[in-house]
Amino acid sequence: MSRPPAGLLREATVDVGAIADNVRHLRRLTGSEVIAVVKADGYGHGAVRSAVAALEGGAARLGVSDITEALALRRGGIDAPIVAWLHAPSADFTEAAARGIELGISNLDQLQKAAAAASADRPASVHLKLETGLSRNGIAPADYRVVFAEAARLERIGKLRVIALFSHLSNASADDDRAALRAFEEGVGIAATLGLAPPLRHIAATHAAIALPESRLGCVRIGIGLYGLSPFDDRSSADLGLRPAMTLHGAVAAVRRVPAGTGVSYGYAYRTDRDTTLALVPLGYADGVPRQASGAGPVVIGGRRFTVAGRIAMDQFVVDVGDAPVSVGDEVLLFGDPTLGAPSATEWADAAGTINYEIVTRIGPRVPRRQVAE
Ligand SMILES: Cc1ncc(COP(=O)(O)O)c(C=O)c1O
Repeated sequence: MSRPPAGLLREATVDVGAIADNVRHLRRLTGSEVIAVVKADGYGHGAVRSAVAALEGGAARLGVSDITEALALRRGGIDAPIVAWLHAPSADFTEAAARGIELGISNLDQLQKAAAAASADRPASVHLKLETGLSRNGIAPADYRVVFAEAARLERIGKLRVIALFSHLSNASADDDRAALRAFEEGVGIAATLGLAPPLRHIAATHAAIALPESRLGCVRIGIGLYGLSPFDDRSSADLGLRPAMTLHGAVAAVRRVPAGTGVSYGYAYRTDRDTTLALVPLGYADGVPRQASGAGPVVIGGRRFTVAGRIAMDQFVVDVGDAPVSVGDEVLLFGDPTLGAPSATEWADAAGTINYEIVTRIGPRVPRRQVAE
């Protein structure tokens, strides 16, 4: 960890070595091939750099939510297999198919559109998504037979290649996930009777890939674990053998000595109770620092931990550092790798009443990302 380069107020560093190591670790742990999920700009880490790092770590393919994200990866020079699974009602799959994007298919209409997008010499590649209890997208059990039969027919005439059957789990409880897994296996069985035997099946994301071995099925879709964060309430990144990839830090923008009784930031939600020093941190909710963590978010300055004093504003917040010798330009660590002395993204999530996924994904565009490889 280092301070932001001179002249920068704020910065997020992304350790691509950590991303590659996390993939290696999860491949070993699960004994499965990894689909690295780099949607939402690689959970805020940068989609292309996260994809490159994940592939370097041995990921077999990439997963994104939508076609726009998939095409951006292609434009960024990524030629690995990519699957995209959430489509607009009027989605046109022509460009996606032409660029070799694999399509997650949730209904008959999408299946037929995918087949229509195939070219004479290249079938469209699809992953059929089965609804197994999450109540989001996916082929409804009542439609399995019709959609599978049509997929098998389209495969026979060379319009489609069915690469996978897949689904997604709720993580509500191990029992709920096992029930979904059983529903999935039933769907796989029905598909087989109708002539579909795709090479891949995948249902586990990070949580189940780690906690529910029977859900691994030889292929897991890893999102949050890629970035070194834990999806569990009671297990840290280090507990899981993962390294957080993102460090968010800023440089102290102003320091002010104030008397007891001084009101701090909007609404005076915090007042000093003694003569003290206030340090101004140039990151705010426009940068993704959640306002809900006002008065609660942790920071480290000069190796010491402090808590946000008062309200987080759009561009800045204040820290009461007492008599600590803090100077303008000093590094303020918001989150990073706790084993290196930083607060964790999970602590910020707890302070804001949310999850670590949201903390990293919402870091705003005003925060420059700098790639590092530790
Ligand atoms: C369909 C699907 N698969 C996999 C993932 C990755 O999940 P996680 O980040 O928990 O590993 C997501 C993320 O939300 C998803 O929507």
